[in-house]
Amino acid sequence: MKHIAILGYGTIGSGVAAVLRVNAKQIAARAGEEIVVSKVLDLREFPGDPVQEILVHDYQEIVADESIDIVVETMGGVHPAFEFVSQALSQGRSVCSSNKELVASKGAELLKIAKEHNCNFFFEASVGGGIPIIRPLSTCLTADDIDEVSGILNGTTNFILTKMDQEGADYAETLKEAQKLGYAELHPEADVEGFDACRKIAILLSLVTGKTVNYEQIPTIGITEITAEDFQYAKFFGASIKLIANSFKVDDQFYAIVAPMLVPAEHPLHAVNDVFNGIFVHGNVLDNAMFYGRGAGKLPTASAVVADVIEAAKLGHQYASYGWSEEAYEIGNPLIVRRRFLVRIAEESAEIDEKIKEVFGKVMHIHYLKGEGSVFLTEPICEGDLPDMVAQVGTLISAIRVLD
Ligand code: HSE
Repeated sequence: MKHIAILGYGTIGSGVAAVLRVNAKQIAARAGEEIVVSKVLDLREFPGDPVQEILVHDYQEIVADESIDIVVETMGGVHPAFEFVSQALSQGRSVCSSNKELVASKGAELLKIAKEHNCNFFFEASVGGGIPIIRPLSTCLTADDIDEVSGILNGTTNFILTKMDQEGADYAETLKEAQKLGYAELHPEADVEGFDACRKIAILLSLVTGKTVNYEQIPTIGITEITAEDFQYAKFFGASIKLIANSFKVDDQFYAIVAPMLVPAEHPLHAVNDVFNGIFVHGNVLDNAMFYGRGAGKLPTASAVVADVIEAAKLGHQYASYGWSEEAYEIGNPLIVRRRFLVRIAEESAEIDEKIKEVFGKVMHIHYLKGEGSVFLTEPICEGDLPDMVAQVGTLISAIRVLD
């Protein structure tokens, strides 16, 4: 029998307890032994919940309980999660975490501690919730030279943008609806400003490069400036707008950005709607692969955590390498990235048309409703050249990148 402790009895932590209960038989068969939750750490009380019997408020009680083999960390945030997780690993206990902030900022360091103490640090649930992507990238796709990982990695923003697209609604009213339905937090900044997706792509890119990608170096633009009109123009080109965490390699150098992007109908991520997540991977021998499913939510996320627990139970004190080192990976200069843009400027006239063609060359050009300015789709141009080029033709209203 393996004994586990759960740190944090919120949505995911209680989901882990529920999955272990509901699928106890299958889990025991796959792990080779029964898995029992013997302690739960949370500052709150849960009167009436059976967890109350095994609830502790002081992490030291878990440290001192020698029967515990595996620790599940579902607290969120970097501190004190980092201190608790590193202490557990130093005790030779494997840790399974759903905490993307912790993994993005301390992943390689925690893997090193795990290796030194012959145990494991697993974090399948930290990206894409219930979608398997961490283990596929680090074990199933290791024969490939992966040159692109791009994803819709945030369910909240995907829900908002899907509604805006389908209902022609504006950002503020859609956010309010998402909050009412429980799909967006009261303080939604981490999601709508793109910070959550940024941490997740940093984790994926770290696994692909084998080094540590500092999420603070990834340019991150949220969805708060996207308007109902932007969707109208996107539709004109048969596209939608989605928050894309985009990373790709050119000449052995990875570039990365998180930004709302025009996703053409033929791109596999175009069909990823509502709260769902999708991760597109391209490898030189694999070609295209898509991972799709529920990127958030109690049971889907807990499913990934419990799968990690089963793996940890099976491996015991054998360290499984993810090939992720602490060495820093410098992502490429975002200003030299070439991509297409959907540009909207305030001016419109035959003269402006000519100027646009002169400055941008070949463009797919529309004059939308009179008085709304000009909108045009550029050929690939350098990100760093865009402001200057736009300034030559008019006053910028918006420039949305295209995911090609
Ligand atoms: N807030 C996150 C999302 C939760 O909306 O995707 C899962 O990490």
